[in-house]
Amino acid sequence: MTSSPQTVLGLETSCDETAAAVVRRGPEGAVEVLSSVVASQVAAHAPFGGVVPEIAARAHVESIDAIAAQALREAGVGFKGLTGVAATAGPGLVGGVMVGLAFGKAVALARGLPLVAVNHLEGHAVSARLAAEVDYPFLLLLVSGGHCQLLSVEGIGACRRLGSTIDDAAGEAFDKIAKTLGLPYPGGPALEALAERGDASRFALPRMLLGRKDCDFSFSGLKTAAARIAEGLASEAERADLAASVQSAIAAQLAERSDRAMAAYAASHPGPLGGKGGLRFVVAGGVAANRTVRARLQATAQARGFSFTAPPLAYCTDNAAMIALAGAERLALGLSDPLDAAARPRWPLDEAAASASPTHVPGRKGAKA
Ligand code: KG4
Ligand code: ZN
Repeated sequence: MTSSPQTVLGLETSCDETAAAVVRRGPEGAVEVLSSVVASQVAAHAPFGGVVPEIAARAHVESIDAIAAQALREAGVGFKGLTGVAATAGPGLVGGVMVGLAFGKAVALARGLPLVAVNHLEGHAVSARLAAEVDYPFLLLLVSGGHCQLLSVEGIGACRRLGSTIDDAAGEAFDKIAKTLGLPYPGGPALEALAERGDASRFALPRMLLGRKDCDFSFSGLKTAAARIAEGLASEAERADLAASVQSAIAAQLAERSDRAMAAYAASHPGPLGGKGGLRFVVAGGVAANRTVRARLQATAQARGFSFTAPPLAYCTDNAAMIALAGAERLALGLSDPLDAAARPRWPLDEAAASASPTHVPGRKGAKA
């Protein structure tokens, strides 16, 4: 199906990255990232061991102009070359969300462009499509600092949640356990580096929710157990062993739940090769950067007959190219939002599942919040 080509400016300010990007989507759906600029605020938040909302919002205000200008310059298009503006409208730290969304509204108003108020999670959901041909539908594991969920993605705006965390997100667990190991913020990459020298079989850690019939996640028991073990550790080698054991336990849980979700997804997408051209599994979000996690998920997908796609690292963590693409796909379907679109601190992708199961509160908690 052909649709009008789109060149969209994307803006992302929902957490601690100020990001802008320009993405072009051709009439047949071919995707080209013309620029993707990410200014991380990690250094500003590191002394506090996590993201401080007020500092984040202020930093977004200070840099959004320059970052957006840089993205347009690097893309080689001016405002005149754009067909739309897409800004993250939630979920996230609302002070930051408002900065990017207000900037996007101003550009849309001044240039007479359509605005798309993008759900940040929908951005992660399409992120694999930035660098590879991944057709809808696919099964998505979204694992980041604020989110941990399995979604059946039928198309843009059509996600069904199969499972979600009942306490912490996987990235949050990485960050909090890293903190108890005395590692710097953000903890995930630091823990992965320490784990490289460790023995993953050294410490037995609880296998949370193992054997449960659903696709939900839980990491709080692991966090408590790891904190107790960490207290008694003397040597660097032992800390590396604990880091490796924790990483392996998180990867195992992600793989086990994904395996269950793959079985459910395959059953609901019958026909040769899963209906349209094969069964597809996609992992996205910051935790998808972890090599042990990727390897476990890839093996699980292979065993279930699913193809496996993980976005390149730059598109795993927060970025604006994924927001621009979500916007471009919406515009191609004729969807846009009014200029009074609200910033939403909470905004589940699958509203029906979220209200039916309110214990699974999506949104940002913990170290990233
Ligand atoms: O997607 P993202 O940039 O932000 C959110 O939307 O939350 O994800 C950030 C999260 C953090 O919790 C960070 O520790 C985790 O992803 N992360 C990792 C790795 N790289 C980033 N966790 C484990 N191993 C990594 N290599
Ligand atoms: Zn994110």
